[in-house]
Amino acid sequence: MTVLITGGAGYIGSITTRLIRSTGRAVVVLDTLENGHKAAVGDAPFVQGDIADSQLVEQVCKEHGVDEVVHFAAYKAVGESMENPSKYFQNNVTGSQKLFEALQKCGVNRVVFSSTAAVYGTPTRVPVRESDTLNCESVYAETKLMIEKTLGWYSKVSSMKSVVLRYFNAAGATEDSTLGEDWRHSQNLIPHVMKATLGHAPTLKVFGDDFPTPDGTGVRDYIHVEDLARAHIAALDYLKASGESITCNVGTGFGTSVMQIIEATERVTGKKVPFEIVGRRAGDPAECYADASLIHHTFGWSPEKSLEDIIASAYAWHSSHPLGHDS
Ligand SMILES: NC(=O)c1ccc[n+]([C@@H]2O[C@H](COP(=O)([O-])OP(=O)(O)OC[C@H]3O[C@@H](n4cnc5c(N)ncnc54)[C@H](O)[C@@H]3O)[C@@H](O)[C@H]2O)c1
Repeated sequence: MTVLITGGAGYIGSITTRLIRSTGRAVVVLDTLENGHKAAVGDAPFVQGDIADSQLVEQVCKEHGVDEVVHFAAYKAVGESMENPSKYFQNNVTGSQKLFEALQKCGVNRVVFSSTAAVYGTPTRVPVRESDTLNCESVYAETKLMIEKTLGWYSKVSSMKSVVLRYFNAAGATEDSTLGEDWRHSQNLIPHVMKATLGHAPTLKVFGDDFPTPDGTGVRDYIHVEDLARAHIAALDYLKASGESITCNVGTGFGTSVMQIIEATERVTGKKVPFEIVGRRAGDPAECYADASLIHHTFGWSPEKSLEDIIASAYAWHSSHPLGHDS
């Protein structure tokens, strides 16, 4: 029994790969390494290649006895997806379609898929629930929703069952500071806070301080990447035991503002975070945080790490790895 982990050399994938292996499951990682790092995979079985290469996927499934999949592989830059939509439809949607076809040929029927809170767009209410209106505001989000729908249909008409995990804002690094995010390739807030705090950027740009939130800055749900990784194990266990498809938010259930992140960083690191307020970015919702009750009740999963844990782990990782895994 082996878990195929697509995109397992990336930020969330590598941390999840390590955790899955620690539970005694065998894994094989498939990644192009376009945005991932071989070093992040460690000594896990690894195949360099594309999810769209059906022949390769079939070969990997047969050789490694794959019976379940965690599917991270995708492009994830919202801005780039608006400038180059076909790159995103091709890699994320067509690539996933090819992957699912190959899995079906090999009789692999359990898939855990990385979706995103971006499918809600500007939520109609917070905390946002899985059944709330979906309103993609980027090509990136739309590609994720298209894959969710594809899996939904497979679940209805075939024996392929899936857990769709809608991640909120993944953040932080492993406790031992060996795996984390690369601020050169990330558009997420915390790597940019760390870059400014450590003096690798003149200031942190805060996009808008006039939102209808308590301090005027945008509010999001930051989930520690190790808590997020645990949710995948819970999802694999659930799928194996129940055989039922489900879509779950993965967040803490709490909103944290940009200003609160800055304050927490100053508290945890003892350093000033140089920042400047600039205009809002188009399409940025004021608030987006999860109602995480479904995943809690269904999988028994809850986050264990605090905002301080996120900041401390990110600070330790970025201090020692200013060039990510190239450091
Ligand atoms: N980081 C977040 O906060 C966040 C939030 C919501 C959803 N997600 C989703 O989670 C997943 C993992 O995100 P991440 O932050 O680890 O991203 P990442 O870019 O670090 O990892 C993605 C990995 O997929 C690989 N890849 C891309 N296309 C591939 C293909 N066609 N075949 C094989 N490998 C391919 C890349 O080389 C990379 O290693 C993505 O699907 C992303 O959309 C991330």
